[in-house]
Order: sequence, then C-alpha cells, then structure tokens
Amino acid sequence: MTEPVVDVHLAEDHAARALAADARVGLAANPKTLPPKWFYDARGSELFEQITRLPEYYPTRAEREILGDRAGEIASTSQAHTLVELGSGSSEKTRLLLDALRAAGTLHQFVPLDVSRTALREAAAACAVDYPGLTVHGVVGDFTEHLALLPGEVPRVVAFLGGTIGNLLPAERAKFLRSVRHVLEPGEWLLLGTDLVKDVETVRVAYDDAAGVTAEFNRNVLHVLNRELGADFDVSAFSHVALWDPENEWIEMRLRAEKAMRVTIPALDMTVSFEEGEELHTEISAKFRREGITTELADAGFELTRWWTDSADRFGLSLSRAV
Ligand code: SAH
Ligand code: TRP
Repeated sequence: MTEPVVDVHLAEDHAARALAADARVGLAANPKTLPPKWFYDARGSELFEQITRLPEYYPTRAEREILGDRAGEIASTSQAHTLVELGSGSSEKTRLLLDALRAAGTLHQFVPLDVSRTALREAAAACAVDYPGLTVHGVVGDFTEHLALLPGEVPRVVAFLGGTIGNLLPAERAKFLRSVRHVLEPGEWLLLGTDLVKDVETVRVAYDDAAGVTAEFNRNVLHVLNRELGADFDVSAFSHVALWDPENEWIEMRLRAEKAMRVTIPALDMTVSFEEGEELHTEISAKFRREGITTELADAGFELTRWWTDSADRFGLSLSRAV
C-alpha cells in the first residue's frame, strides 16, 4: 500500500492557543458564544459519526442518495485530476466520488482537509488502503485559514459536503466562498452540499434526537474546555436546546445552564458566571434555497452549472464553475 502523506498545519498546541483566544472573547460576550470547530476533538468526531446514523438525521442519507445518482455526471463534467475535500470527517460519502472519478480515469490525487486530526488520519489511511495507486495527501488544518496551502494538480474539484457551509454565519460564508474561489483557476469546480429549508419539525428533530446523541455532541464542547483549559464546567448541569430561527432560516444550538454556576477557567485566568436558565450559543445550521445559494455563489465568482436534490427535496447538491 502507498502510505498517505499527512501535512499538519496546526501546531500541537494550536487547539489550546486558538481555543483560549476564542473562549476568552466568546465567554465574555453577551450572549455567551463558542465557535463550532471546537466540537470536533476525537470524541466529537465520533459523536458526529453517530449523528449521521440517527433515524432523525436525514442530511447524510439525502446527500448520499444524490451522490449515488450523480457521481458519474460530476466525474464526466469535471474531469478532475484532484479531489479536494474540506471538512472531510470520515470521507465516507466521498467514496462515491472517488469511485466515479477513478472509473472516468482522470483522478490522481485525493486531498482531504479537516481540523480533527484523528478523523483526518483515519480517513486518509483508509482511503490509501482502499484506493491503491491514488495519492492521498491529507491536511490537518482550518478551512477558514489554510486553503492557500492545498496541494494538487489541476483541474480540481473542491467538495464541501454535509451542509457544513450552513455552520458559518452569512458574512463568514461569503468570505469563505471568496477564499475558495481565490485558490482556484477559472474552469475548476466547487461541489457544495446545502441542506434545504423545509418543515420546521423535520429540521428540529434532526438537531434534537430522541436518543440524545446530539445533546451529547453539543455538551462535548464543554468537555473540550475542561480538558484543554482546565475549566471546571459541570457538564451535566447544561441541557441541549435546538431552536428554529424563522427570520434567518437557521437552527440554533445552545447549552442552557440549569442552575446558577460559577465556572473557573485557569488557563484564561477567568471566572464566568451563568444565571439559571442562561444559554450559551454554540452552533447554527443554516438551511438554504436554490435562488439564495446561486446568488451567494455568483457573488463569490462561481457559476452554478448543475443543481440536484434528493427524491424528497430535503437536500441540495450544486456543482459550480470558477469563472
Ligand atoms: N464532510 C463530512 C463531515 C461533516 S461534519 C460529512 O459530510 O459527513 C463537519 C466536519 O468539518 C468535521 O469533520 C469537522 O472536524 C470539520 N470542521 C469543522 N470546522 C472546521 C474548520 N474550521 N476547518 C476544518 N475543518 C473543520
Ligand atoms: N454540518 C452539520 C449540520 O449542520 C453539523 C451538525 C450536525 C451539528 N448536528 C449538529 C452541529 C448538532 C451542532 C449540533 O447538520
């Protein structure tokens, strides 16, 4: 087997340093907030994999259905030599693309990038075993910072799946799409998965499942703060809240303090007080409409050339050309 190359663009202490900076700002804000990338330590990545298998969590299955139907078309349209995947996680659905691009005979290189070093290393190793002859070049990094360092021969398809773009705020999203466009040459491709606006209850239970896995995933960010910054959050005293915001068309995840608490965070030399019922904002997951995402892509220098949905119109996958 060919060993995968894994470049690490995050220093060993990146988590501790950047987390400290984010936590210092976020926990002093009103309302208190924490940025979502801190969910994904080894345990967080494992919990997310469990979420993808929950009966309520439809996005993974819907996107896999589209990829199953359209991977051949994506391969023949793009003729990609390199498949880059941002926020790749386990790269499980991505295998449908790797299979189709191999069958088309154009693919040389796979470049998964993720902030979670455990998820990245496992996925890169598994793909290197299962796709002999394919150069697997993993990158441990942050897709909001490290796009300029991506290797790979043109033409490339950059895949950003799972609806992860919905976890960015609108201004962050615009900046992110422009930065992707900036590293591509005209004629290269962006394959973007976007969860769609639908009835509120379907979305709500996808982010508040009966088995409580999503609640555990949300609370995991407090375990990360306890471990990395020596904080003393009483994790079980926080409950999971998933709220639909009809104005912004996003679902908002929060952690509600079920009692008044004082939390000390030695690494920040900081004490944070929570009132009973106070909510810490952890994550949004925006839902999209075709017209809106077409405009956002155009504003960033992409022409949306193909648009597909699953058979129940829950999820959209678009293939866009850099212009
Ligand atoms: N693409 C997979 C995983 C989606 S979950 C799927 O569709 O199932 C989101 C993934 O993005 C996680 O693996 C997480 O570690 C990664 N991620 C989140 N924020 C990131 C960031 N700022 N930079 C790089 N990866 C990030
Ligand atoms: N990209 C996923 C999504 O927006 C991430 C996710 C799934 C998530 N479930 C979550 C984030 C629960 C926070 C809380 O669907």
